[in-house]
Amino acid sequence: MVSDLFERLGRELGIRALIDTFYDFMNELPEAVAIRKLHPDDLSESREKLYEFLTGWSGGPPLYTEKYGHPRLRMRHMPFPIGVAERDQWLLCMEKAFEKCQVDPEVQDFLRERFFQIADFMRNKEEPAVNG
Ligand code: HEM
Repeated sequence: MVSDLFERLGRELGIRALIDTFYDFMNELPEAVAIRKLHPDDLSESREKLYEFLTGWSGGPPLYTEKYGHPRLRMRHMPFPIGVAERDQWLLCMEKAFEKCQVDPEVQDFLRERFFQIADFMRNKEEPAVNG
């Protein structure tokens, strides 16, 4: 568990940089084309919402909940078909963003685990089991 996550991410500016880098990778990486297609052509609102969400979620000002109420992330992702491939594409973009933004390795480890859990929970597609 990482305490002071908001501080350690570099507060609003650090989180903004991480999220912008994340969506830049989603825009550019051929491996992420399936999830890019699920998003609007203009990513401005997606960038803003994820920035607002992570700011509050990491212990900073509750920007997202003030505007939109409880995140109810699983429900809000229901319009988009999300399976293992989409989950892994999202996590790949975040992994690249960690590296490029030089996020503290201990913070990376913590976020990697938590983001995996959240992304995995977003899955809403019937798929054959991967390991039998
Ligand atoms: C598992 C793979 C994921 C996919 C394919 C995905 C895809 C999307 C899409 C297409 C949108 C709509 C964007 C828009 O309206 O501009 C969205 C919104 C959002 N996503 Fe994800 N997402 C994933 C995982 C996550 C994770 C792990 C988090 C949090 C750590 C997250 C947080 C959000 C938030 C806060 C919104 C805005 C919700 C709203 O107010 O409408 N997503 N996502």
